[in-house]
Amino acid sequence: MNQNDLDFVHRFVPAEEPGAPTLLLLHGTGGNEDDLLPLGRMIDERAALLSPRGKVLEHGMPRFFRRLAEGVFDHEDLVNRTHELAGFIKQATNGYDLDPGRLYAVGFSNGANIAASLLLLHPGLLAGAILLRAMTPFKLETLPDLTGTPVYLAAGRSDQMVPPEDTERLAELLREAGAEITLDWQPGGHGIGRAEVEAARSWFTKEISGLR
Ligand code: MLT
Repeated sequence: MNQNDLDFVHRFVPAEEPGAPTLLLLHGTGGNEDDLLPLGRMIDERAALLSPRGKVLEHGMPRFFRRLAEGVFDHEDLVNRTHELAGFIKQATNGYDLDPGRLYAVGFSNGANIAASLLLLHPGLLAGAILLRAMTPFKLETLPDLTGTPVYLAAGRSDQMVPPEDTERLAELLREAGAEITLDWQPGGHGIGRAEVEAARSWFTKEISGLR
């Protein structure tokens, strides 16, 4: 399959081992498809990596959906972009012959927010997720069924962009939907440190790779 066959600019790195999971890497504002490849490798050195670039530009910086201000989302665009990304994921899963039951999102900031939106609007598409500095993307009247879906939420106690209560709200929303939440509070801010990547890796190894 060729890059140009899919409508998101992206990187695909095949798995190092048959049967390994796929990590869907979703970058933060101003990032691109190359940004999280090293992080993906640190989380699982055997996994296939699928890393799209967000299509929305904010002053030239790629994002996965529009926002009206920092932390204030354009809800309609978020929903539409979530469906569009879900379409890409399905195409890529077929095109690259990936196991749809072993697809895990790893998102940072804006990428974590669209990953949370994917979990809520397309339950079953992701087998689980690592959400680094995520916010609650929106409220839902009817919760999806995410029974047993493992989600690792890593939040910063002094994050200037994501208030702690917002993280708690997201954890609660996902928990109510049946997801298995691990909420990991870090002392730092919006940035991700090495220790945290290690913590995400151990969680992934224990929760997911261990099932292989
Ligand atoms: C968002 O817009 O998704 C959040 O404010 C985080 C970010 O700045 O990317």
